[in-house]
Amino acid sequence: NGECIEWEGPYTTIYSPVCIPGPDGLNRKILGSVPRTSGKQSLEALDAAVAAYNNGLGEWPSMSVEGRIKCMEHFVYLMLQQRNIVIKLLMWEIAKTLADATKEFDRTIEYINATIDALKDTDRESSRFRQEEGIIAQIRRTPLGVVLSMGPFNYPLNEIFTTLIPALIMGNTVLFKMPKHGVLLYYPLLNAFKDAFPKGVVNTLYGNGAEIITPIMETGKVNVLAFIGSSKVANGLKKLHPKVNRLRAVLSLDAKNAAVITKHADIEIAVSECILGALSFNGQRCTALKLLFVHREVADEFVEKLSKAIEALPVGLPWEKDVRITPLPEPSKPGYLRECIVDAISKGARIVNEKGGLAEESLVMPTLVYPVNEQMRLYHEEQFGPVVPVVIFDTIDEPVNYQENASHGMQVSIFSNDAGEVATLIDSFVNLVSRVNINCQAQRGPDIFPFTGRKDSAEGTLSVYDALRSFSIRSLVAAKSTETNKN
Ligand code: G3H
Repeated sequence: NGECIEWEGPYTTIYSPVCIPGPDGLNRKILGSVPRTSGKQSLEALDAAVAAYNNGLGEWPSMSVEGRIKCMEHFVYLMLQQRNIVIKLLMWEIAKTLADATKEFDRTIEYINATIDALKDTDRESSRFRQEEGIIAQIRRTPLGVVLSMGPFNYPLNEIFTTLIPALIMGNTVLFKMPKHGVLLYYPLLNAFKDAFPKGVVNTLYGNGAEIITPIMETGKVNVLAFIGSSKVANGLKKLHPKVNRLRAVLSLDAKNAAVITKHADIEIAVSECILGALSFNGQRCTALKLLFVHREVADEFVEKLSKAIEALPVGLPWEKDVRITPLPEPSKPGYLRECIVDAISKGARIVNEKGGLAEESLVMPTLVYPVNEQMRLYHEEQFGPVVPVVIFDTIDEPVNYQENASHGMQVSIFSNDAGEVATLIDSFVNLVSRVNINCQAQRGPDIFPFTGRKDSAEGTLSVYDALRSFSIRSLVAAKSTETNKN
């Protein structure tokens, strides 16, 4: 509610994925500690957001579009002053390379500026009057109420902002839970929120979901759930709302995106794009390529070249020059990946690259596993880490069946230089996923394009323009037209 309070409650210690030697071996470095919100405090934050919205009559929802844009521009100005420290914290807290951390911050600023421009466009449209069948009307984009926004550790700043910013600028009030990993980086920004927006418009929480989010959802006072994470958690959260039909959900969830490399593919391009797709930020992206299907006739060549390229990726700490593979923030991840690799090996696959399968605490070497088949966990589970499973196929029905039977449907990348084959593959996949990439990796951006998914992969659409729609409704102010006012 825009206030700084004396903290007497508990703290959570924040560890870096970067390990340092200690008396008992390598340990994750302690970076600091964060106040942990209690259930009672989270309900107070909710009350602040509800009061600031005040049934749409609060200062923020009833402010002019120009007024809201001014506040947002001021926020950008304040946020830019914290650029260096936020980038540094992205590197320490989630081990993003300097290049990726810088990109995450700058992309977020660009996203806010693009959202401001998109709102100006949308507003120009709504200030026009339309006359249809004797009714003269103005279509207005109006807010929905209180938005609860949560996002994952892999884009702790950018992904929360892809829901937080459009929600705010459309006049909603917001509660957001800072990610478990990637939380300290919010501290340099909290004053910017406080100074740029009216009291109660932005409220920040940190803590255990069951303790702080469950009571909030159970009140039924949340109008929009904006969640980026797993479909299992999203479904659990939705169920907590007593009137789920009154809850709008904007969700970006599970994905195990496939690449399909046909015998007509340019293997060099397929290799370099699959490396980017599968191993950027250690494969910790919802849009990562997590299962590579390669045609039997080119499988050996593809796997050999891919293995060489994987082996050549520089591994190290986020600030090291040209580094590509860095430590993993989730403490349980190295063990989980190990289990998946062991499962695949026990069912007939092998590790292809020399350093594959090796790990030192949080630093897991990128690992190419081949040939993977339907019996293996790596065929089905979203590994979200630096393990690259390759499947051999003989007919295109095999990758198509995979996608048809999957519970998710986000993206696919197809690699072929045969135009006819590309056209057929587009038709095969375009109604199974929400984006088909041709001869390139899967990704969310450019942010101006719609970002969504089918089945358990998403609900609603994000991106600069689509998100403005997701966090508002088109309301109508209408009157009967008469001879005198019809124009
Ligand atoms: O983790 C999911 C992100 O939305 C992926 O974004 O494709 O820009 O890396 P990206």
